[in-house]
Amino acid sequence: MLTIKAPAKINWFLEVKGKRPDGYHEIETVMQSVSLFDEITVSDADTLDLTCNIELGDTKQNLVYRAAEILQREHAPSRGAHIVLKKQIPHGAGLGGGSSDAANALVALNRLWGLGLGHDRLRELVAQVGSDCAFFIEGGTALCTGRGEIVTPLRDLAGLDLVILYPNDVCPTPAVYRELSQDLTFDTVSCYLFHKLPAQPRAEEIASLIKNRLQEPALRVSARLRAVWDRTAQMDGKLVQFVSGSGSSVVFLLADQRSADHLSESLRAMQLGQVFAVKTLPRGAVWG
Ligand code: C5P
Repeated sequence: MLTIKAPAKINWFLEVKGKRPDGYHEIETVMQSVSLFDEITVSDADTLDLTCNIELGDTKQNLVYRAAEILQREHAPSRGAHIVLKKQIPHGAGLGGGSSDAANALVALNRLWGLGLGHDRLRELVAQVGSDCAFFIEGGTALCTGRGEIVTPLRDLAGLDLVILYPNDVCPTPAVYRELSQDLTFDTVSCYLFHKLPAQPRAEEIASLIKNRLQEPALRVSARLRAVWDRTAQMDGKLVQFVSGSGSSVVFLLADQRSADHLSESLRAMQLGQVFAVKTLPRGAVWG
């Protein structure tokens, strides 16, 4: 039996380069794993099955199940596994919870079944179930391009303090991209400055590079997110606030843990949604 922790992510940077013939958007995004986790336990069984602490709907449509099925079909046709998923990362939040679960389930099954597959192969397999799944095979800090599935590791920006506020409303990713598609005539910007960051940059240096092309569309899609954004915009103590990916989470970057604790307390008192004080993570699986 093996347990792995599946981290959430935030996006330090997200630019949309254009629409592709397959309907997806060409993007350039800098993703970052953070210390808010789902947990996945895998153990040997005759067939594949998945249980969860919350209602999943049709289990076979779940990304974890679909990824496990692909791995089994391609590399372990005679094996099965009992997979238990404990969810904590909110859904529809721009935090990549479902994608992280799928990727980390493959990392765990690769070990349980003794397959010895490399990260490139695991990324290739898991990208079949979602655009941002491949990032979560290793997490850390990475530039993701294509539709999000081409992952290039960047120097780790680990140990930084963030507060994540989930405003209790989902932002469906397709709706946010549709909202953006009204206007694809903007001048695109590049994330090249992330390559130039010094080792262990101060939070202030990162704050000045943060940008998310999906932020305005997300704020238009969710009135609840807009209301929460407006309520928090003038709050003291943060370096910057931004929407994670396609939303609906608002992320606050702080200079240190004391400021993060202080802001978390104020946000909880305001009862705007779920509040998570987290740290950015280095690359690598987190075994439970
Ligand atoms: O790949 P995934 O299933 O996670 O994507 C969900 C939806 O988000 C897609 O169906 C598409 O509408 C939108 N999307 C996009 N361009 C991307 C990633 C996602 O248009 N690069």
